[in-house]
Formats: sequence, structure tokens, C-alpha cells
Amino acid sequence: MGEIFASAPFIVGKSEPSLVEADIPAQEAVCPVIAHDWVNDEYKHLVVAASPKALAVRPGQFFNLLCPSPDAGELWLRRPQSVYRIDGARGRIEFLYKCVGRGTRGLATLKRGDLLNIVGPLGIGFHLDPTWRNIVVLGRGVGLATLAPISQLAAGYGVGVTAILSARNRDLVMGDDLFAKVGTVVPVLDADRSSDVENVERILEGLIAAKCADAFYTCGSNRLMQLMKRLAWQHRIPGQVAMEQVMACGLGPCYVCVRTFEVNGRKELRRVCIEGPVFDLQEAVGW
Ligand SMILES: Cc1cc2nc3c(=O)[nH]c(=O)nc-3n(C[C@H](O)[C@H](O)[C@H](O)COP(=O)(O)OP(=O)(O)OC[C@H]3O[C@@H](n4cnc5c(N)ncnc54)[C@H](O)[C@@H]3O)c2cc1C
Ligand code: FES
Repeated sequence: MGEIFASAPFIVGKSEPSLVEADIPAQEAVCPVIAHDWVNDEYKHLVVAASPKALAVRPGQFFNLLCPSPDAGELWLRRPQSVYRIDGARGRIEFLYKCVGRGTRGLATLKRGDLLNIVGPLGIGFHLDPTWRNIVVLGRGVGLATLAPISQLAAGYGVGVTAILSARNRDLVMGDDLFAKVGTVVPVLDADRSSDVENVERILEGLIAAKCADAFYTCGSNRLMQLMKRLAWQHRIPGQVAMEQVMACGLGPCYVCVRTFEVNGRKELRRVCIEGPVFDLQEAVGW
């Protein structure tokens, strides 16, 4: 048999997993839409039937979605979306996304029964040390969707979580139901100014003093990332950040997603799609 360079997409419900697919880290799959609903004015929750390969996704990893065009024009390039929830028992994966432009507006047109073409799982996900007793998650905006599956990692290891979820108002606090199953949710809002950095710093300092901060996780806000990075450095707490960056291939060769990192005092360029999207908090530089 000759070398195989490409294969037809895996069609969920029709294709059988093959030996070739067992060896590759990611796969193109065509997934029937199971449910697709608005959760508030800005975000939609998408549930699709997934291939065995897609179900092996780890929290923090992402898929590159082939979004339908929302209009008569072509839609170039796939759009990256991190996994929001992995439902292994029912063979489904879920996404929570904000409608911001043509790609996500096109994605929003999919109805139950339609087919979505995805490539993944891609990138490097979150790490969790089973010896940690309580971790702290701090996120905002679309970062809440990326951080949400940490609740599944924590549940798997019996690790407690304090999730500080920052948003403009209560309606935009998402993933709180998932985090409530494994720990404590602390919503911080612009509406009552509890999301001010000074207040979030007080909350984090309290958790550190109470020895409830064995590790830090953050996504979605530069100012909150900078705060966590500073406190993690001062208190020697390990931390991870999930970075977002406009992407093209999502696979490594195009270098569209390069960002600057600082490693042992030296600036380094890294590709968010393949060397991330999850990075060591101390190596991340703000944006
Ligand atoms: C690894 C990764 C995981 C992501 N996970 C999620 C997720 O779980 N939920 C979610 O809502 N979004 C997520 N995003 C962001 C999402 O990819 C973008 O919102 C989407 O690609 C925008 O496409 P669009 O065509 O609708 O908007 P565009 O018309 O391309 O852009 C509209 C606006 O969104 C901004 N934008 C475009 N791409 C990105 C990007 N990659 N990151 C940040 N801003 C962007 C643009 O600068 C512009 O302001 C993720 C991004 C990455 C890189
Ligand atoms: S998106 Fe192409 S290398 Fe990262």
C-alpha cells in the first residue's frame, strides 16, 4: 500500500473508524447538528454528533469549523472555536460562541439536522495536576467558553475549582452551571463594578491566603491575565493561559497566528495554533 497523504472526511453516523485514523492526531469530520440555540443576545450554543477522534478532544483544544456563508459571497478560511463541553456518553461535543462577524453569523444559520464540517482536535490543551486540591479559573467574554471544560477535567480528578467569571452583566456570565458542579462560582460584573481589577485582586489574594489556589487558569482578558500573572509570580503559583489569535490553517504551516512570548528573559515567536493555544502564564506577553 502506498503512503496516504489525505483521506476523505469522516462522516458521523456513516463512516467506520479506520486503522489509518487511529494514528493521526486530528481529523476532518462531518457532524450532524443536534441542537443550536441562543443563550443570550450575543452567544449561541451548538451541539453536534462527533466522531470518536473528535470525542478525544481535551479541554483547551479547539476545532477549525467550516462555517457556511451568511450571504451570497464566498467565506474564506475556517474559524477556530474551542470545545465547550465533551459529552462522551452521548457521543457529542458542544461549542459556545459569540456572533461577531461573517463566519460566526454564517455558523449561526445552521439548523438541527444540518451538517457541520470540522477539523480537529487541534492544539495543546490545559494541564491539571491531580495532586492539586483547589484551582482558580478567571475568565471573561469568549474566554468563558474556552475555560468551561476545565470543570470536566477537575471533576475527573476530584479537584475543587473557584471560578471567577467576569462579564458586563449577569446575562453574559456563561459556564457558571458547569463550574457550580465542581466548586464555587464568583460572578464579577461591570454593572456593579465588581469586575474592577482591584476587586478581582482582593478575591484572588483571599483565595491565596486561604490556600485555595494551587494553580491559576485564565482566558479572554488582557488586564485579568496581567493581574493573574503578577500574583502567580509573587506567590509562586503555576499558571496557564489560553490565547486567542486570528488563524488561517490552524495546523502549523502558515504562521498567521504567531505571537511574541518571553522565555527566560528572551523574546520568542510561537504559533498559537500548534504550540498553544494554552501556554505557561509567565511566558505570555500581553496584547
Ligand atoms: C483557539 C481559539 C479558540 C476560540 N474559541 C472560541 C470560543 O470558544 N468561542 C468564541 O466565541 N470564540 C472563540 N474564538 C474566537 C473565534 O475564532 C472568532 O470570534 C471567530 O473566528 C470570528 O470569526 P468571524 O468571521 O465571525 O469574525 P471576523 O469577521 O473574522 O471578525 C470579527 C471580529 O472578531 C475578531 N476576531 C476574529 N478572529 C478572532 C480570533 N481568533 N480571536 C479573537 N478575535 C477574533 C476580529 O478581530 C473582529 O474584530 C476562538 C479563537 C481561537 C484562536
Ligand atoms: S494558523 Fe496557520 S500556523 Fe497557526
